[in-house]
Amino acid sequence: MQRQGRNRVLLFCLVAGLPALRVEAAPQFVGPTACRTCHPAIVADFYRNPHHKTTLDAAAPPERSGCEGCHGPASDHVAAKGDKSKIQAFSQMAPRQVLDNCLRCHSESLGRANIRRSQHTLAGIACNKCHSIHKAKTQKALLAKEQRDVCYGCHEDIRAQFMLPVKHRVNEGFMTCSDCHNPHGAPAYVRGMGARPRMMQTALNDEEPCLKCHIDKRGPFAFEHAAIRVDGCGACHLPHGTANARLLKRPVVFTLCLECHNGAGEFGRQADGVALTPSTHNLADPRFRNCTTCHLRIHGSNAIRSLTR
Ligand code: HEC
Ligand code: HEC
Ligand code: HEC
Ligand code: HEC
Ligand code: HEC
Ligand code: HEC
Ligand code: HEC
Ligand code: HEC
Ligand code: HEC
Ligand code: HEC
Repeated sequence: MQRQGRNRVLLFCLVAGLPALRVEAAPQFVGPTACRTCHPAIVADFYRNPHHKTTLDAAAPPERSGCEGCHGPASDHVAAKGDKSKIQAFSQMAPRQVLDNCLRCHSESLGRANIRRSQHTLAGIACNKCHSIHKAKTQKALLAKEQRDVCYGCHEDIRAQFMLPVKHRVNEGFMTCSDCHNPHGAPAYVRGMGARPRMMQTALNDEEPCLKCHIDKRGPFAFEHAAIRVDGCGACHLPHGTANARLLKRPVVFTLCLECHNGAGEFGRQADGVALTPSTHNLADPRFRNCTTCHLRIHGSNAIRSLTR
């Protein structure tokens, strides 16, 4: 019967003038034991991998289970004694194909829309540039190296910022890049009208990630310092590191304040510019230069509009 069918196809091809159709069976799923002979180390280690879970669910279809859940049906690869063109080999895939492969299972937790338009994806950085399935150092998140070293692999310039005298202690292991960034991309960012997206994580209500840890700066305050609500922490602070005290953007505090409190712009309460530094403040007097000795509640006050207590 089968032979007859094949002949009919050949006949049809001849008649139609098409190149003979090969009606070989599509590759079949063979199950993980078939891999052991030739890839013993990978198979032996696999029980530690979070993806091992996919083999424990008896109801899981073969295309979502074990080795072939990622590498696809392997019968041809096995029959050809390991021809890598006959299997889904990640070393041969374009970034787009890697992404599609992994997102078959991970699109829910990662948010397909975000990962598709993340700056990493747009720059052709796919999952396997950061994750290593078989050579992971930690089974949590399957990163080949410490997270910061994964990132520094491409963002070497950032390492130097975290070595400056005032910094968040990322290099020391107290926090990670992903405390502030989402390497998989973040939803469109509202703060600063999205002018500085930078794949930031968000705290509650689309707030800056800073507020997860610096909760006291969240408020609400009876008297806000509008700069924080509008421009965000980045109006005055650098996030990574600097030589300036308190991670400030400028070494001398009052020069930072005067960037805004100089009467220019159309932004202030009176719509005639951010409040001028009052004339009672004699800036020639060093006492007045250290603005935050008096404006103690620089992030917001519950007592007084002038933020002095
Ligand atoms: C008969 C031996 C043999 C068996 C059985 C076998 N492989 Fe392979 N496999 C090889 C060899 C040899 C290579 C290396 C081919 C090369 O580098 O050109 C390879 C390469 C691969 C690659 C490509 C690696 C890359 O990215 O370059 C993958 C993926 C793979 N095997 C998966 C599997 C899976 C999954 C199974 C079980 C279903 C399996 N293999 C069974 C011999 C085998
Ligand atoms: C979650 C998806 C996934 C599963 C499940 C998976 N692999 Fe892989 N495999 C990959 C990726 C991605 C690579 C590319 C290298 C890397 O990231 O470690 C790879 C690489 C390989 C290679 C090439 C050698 C190497 O280390 O680069 C072989 C061989 C291989 N896998 C075999 C297997 C076998 C056998 C199993 C089952 C025990 C398996 N894979 C399960 C994703 C997977
Ligand atoms: C630029 C590097 C990078 C890329 C590209 C990347 N990841 Fe991640 N991923 C990470 C880091 C770093 C973590 C750990 C985050 C943490 O510890 O909070 C992580 C965590 C995860 C986690 C576990 C926790 C979670 O957030 O759900 C999964 C699953 C994951 N990644 C899958 C993927 C997949 C699938 C892709 C490709 C579509 C991908 N990643 C692309 C860096 C990356
Ligand atoms: C067949 C479905 C499937 C495919 C395809 C798949 N994964 Fe997974 N992945 C899972 C499951 C299931 C887990 C375990 C989740 C858990 O522990 O609850 C997992 C876990 C992970 C984790 C660890 C999550 C953590 O919380 O630490 C990472 C990272 C990850 N996968 C990345 C990838 C990458 C990268 C690819 C593509 C090379 C990929 N996965 C392809 C199903 C899949
Ligand atoms: C394989 C290389 C690679 C790795 C690994 C990598 N990145 Fe990237 N990253 C890029 C590229 C390329 C871009 C887009 C071009 C650019 O703006 O530099 C980018 C962009 C970014 C941006 C946005 C920059 C901007 O100007 O808006 C941030 C933030 C970022 N990466 C953080 C991380 C973090 C955190 C990690 C580690 C979890 C990481 N990256 C790992 C290559 C990488
Ligand atoms: C304390 C929070 C925080 C941590 C931790 C952090 N970042 Fe950032 N990062 C930011 C913020 C905020 C910006 C946006 C700065 C701006 O407004 O331009 C940024 C910007 C960036 C940029 C784009 C601008 C530039 O300077 O090139 C890259 C790339 C980047 N970060 C990578 C990293 C890497 C890699 C790590 C870990 C080693 C890391 N970040 C850790 C908060 C953080
Ligand atoms: C994961 C928690 C965490 C996040 C997120 C975080 N910080 Fe911090 N921050 C800390 C800790 C802890 C310190 C204490 C100093 C240290 O670790 O050496 C600190 C210190 C600071 C300091 C004071 C530095 C000094 O020398 O006194 C400033 C300013 C600061 N953070 C601003 C920010 C800004 C702005 C952001 C968001 C871009 C942010 N932080 C995000 C944990 C965090
Ligand atoms: C208008 C400028 C400005 C903005 C915006 C701003 N800060 Fe500050 N911040 C300062 C100044 C000035 C200091 C130093 C105060 C001092 O001299 O003691 C400081 C100090 C700090 C400190 C260390 C001392 C302390 O009070 O704990 C942290 C942490 C901090 N800021 C976090 C933040 C966070 C988080 C945001 C965003 C929600 C933010 N700042 C927004 C001006 C600002
Ligand atoms: C990014 C711009 C910006 C920076 C930098 C800035 N401010 Fe402000 N500040 C504002 C805005 C906007 C308001 C609210 C509107 C107004 O002043 O009329 C405000 C309000 C104030 C007020 C309350 C004025 C009132 O009576 O309502 C004080 C006091 C103040 N700032 C002090 C400072 C000091 C001290 C610094 C330096 C540590 C500083 N500001 C840095 C933008 C800024
Ligand atoms: C010796 C304490 C002291 C110092 C130092 C100080 N201020 Fe003030 N500032 C005050 C007091 C008190 C008020 C509220 C009464 C007033 O308007 O004079 C005030 C008010 C302000 C106002 C609000 C004015 C308005 O019209 O609502 C601004 C803006 C301001 N200061 C900015 C600054 C800046 C910028 C510096 C640093 C160059 C600074 N201050 C240094 C005590 C101080």
